[in-house]
Amino acid sequence: MRALISALETRMDEPTAKGLAAAIGRAVRDGVLSPGDRLPPIRDLAHELALSPTTVSAAWALLTRAGTLRTAGRRGTVVADTSAPRAGRYQQALEHPAAFPLDLSTGVPDEELLPALGDALRALTTAGTPHSYLDDPVLPELRTALLASWPYEPEALIVVDGAMDALELVLRPRIQYGDRVVVEHPGFPPLIDLLEALGAVVVGVSLDDEGILPSDLSAALAEPVAAVVLQPRAQNPTGISMSAARAAALAELLADGDVLVVEDDSASALGGPPPVTLAGFLPDRTVHVRSYSKSHGPDLRLAAVSGPAPVIDAVRHLRQLGQGWSSRLLQRILLHLLTDPESRAEVDRARATYAARRTAFVEALAAEGVEVGGVEGLNAWVPVHDQAAALVRLASQGIGVAAGSPFQVLPDSPHVRVTCGLVREDLAEVAAAVAAAARTGGWGNRAR
Ligand SMILES: Cc1ncc(COP(=O)(O)O)c(C=O)c1O
Repeated sequence: MRALISALETRMDEPTAKGLAAAIGRAVRDGVLSPGDRLPPIRDLAHELALSPTTVSAAWALLTRAGTLRTAGRRGTVVADTSAPRAGRYQQALEHPAAFPLDLSTGVPDEELLPALGDALRALTTAGTPHSYLDDPVLPELRTALLASWPYEPEALIVVDGAMDALELVLRPRIQYGDRVVVEHPGFPPLIDLLEALGAVVVGVSLDDEGILPSDLSAALAEPVAAVVLQPRAQNPTGISMSAARAAALAELLADGDVLVVEDDSASALGGPPPVTLAGFLPDRTVHVRSYSKSHGPDLRLAAVSGPAPVIDAVRHLRQLGQGWSSRLLQRILLHLLTDPESRAEVDRARATYAARRTAFVEALAAEGVEVGGVEGLNAWVPVHDQAAALVRLASQGIGVAAGSPFQVLPDSPHVRVTCGLVREDLAEVAAAVAAAARTGGWGNRAR
């Protein structure tokens, strides 16, 4: 304590909250304080520095907002770790030592099934100038087009740079270190990485063929939960879409309390029936995200996010400190693609093609004795006897698939995720190779 006090005294320009906050910041920069170090109780520090406890707690508030300090429950206030977080699970799922002739590990859409951009680009004459940097960040015509197919009438809507951007912008200001956040098991690895980087405790809940199991959600809610993040349709990796009855059951469990519900609809226009949403039951607490990456192209980098006005306003204000808005050039391209009859027909054809590919793939696996659940989307969640053996066997045949473990939040049997939406030809052969890989290793092999 003594050494810290003198380190702060030498770094403090003025005996105010700002002065103390700056001194702590300099002590962290100089290595006097390191990430994880616990700070003395406010009263003790105030006494030693001859400041009032109010001044010290105002300094703590400034430093917490700036991300230098964080509160860590009973451990008190600690120095935050500001080193760059890593997308650990994401990289584990997708990183390969070499490229595959047939890479079904990626989860991306088939480039050949994206709508053509020629007409949309020709319609752009200049980049345009916003009236002000504080203009409405959404093109009014795009807002109208988005709302025309939105699953409910939201209080507010904004366009951002993709679903992951939306999830970060919504969750970062709301999740405090140690908050419990419910996610699906299996779930989307980048979401789990994001939550862990925010210091959240990730609580997995299992799925059946209608969505999140109410019994699991109910058990998770036995302790306080800050948010539930779910995928309403074509769940990645399983392809499960939530039923209307399940949405009602989950909403009932969430009715009391103030849990934020975040719905990540990444299938968007590629999904079959419109997505089910909890917003009809919990309009004041539901955020609905729709990505246009799978349907219109990941490099458009656009998603729309709707929700209660305070949540969407917070996103807008947070963005004003950064990029401000998503390029209106891109918004105009998306507007064209959503309204032009030929572009819409192209997306409809893509939807039908993905549906046919997934159905054929799942049926071919079933014929080989490998049962896969889910109903739609680009991926199949394939049970295997031995994850490593399956990956290696497929790799030796030039086929890349994603390891299942980064998607798993709870202990579970091994799986791999296969982006069957990318299989343009030889579907029967690919399915046979995946089925053989599913049987490779483990007891299945030894039994033979
Ligand atoms: C469930 C889920 N959420 C979010 C994303 C990311 O979407 P975007 O490209 O809009 O950031 C994906 C993309 O694979 C996804 O599958």
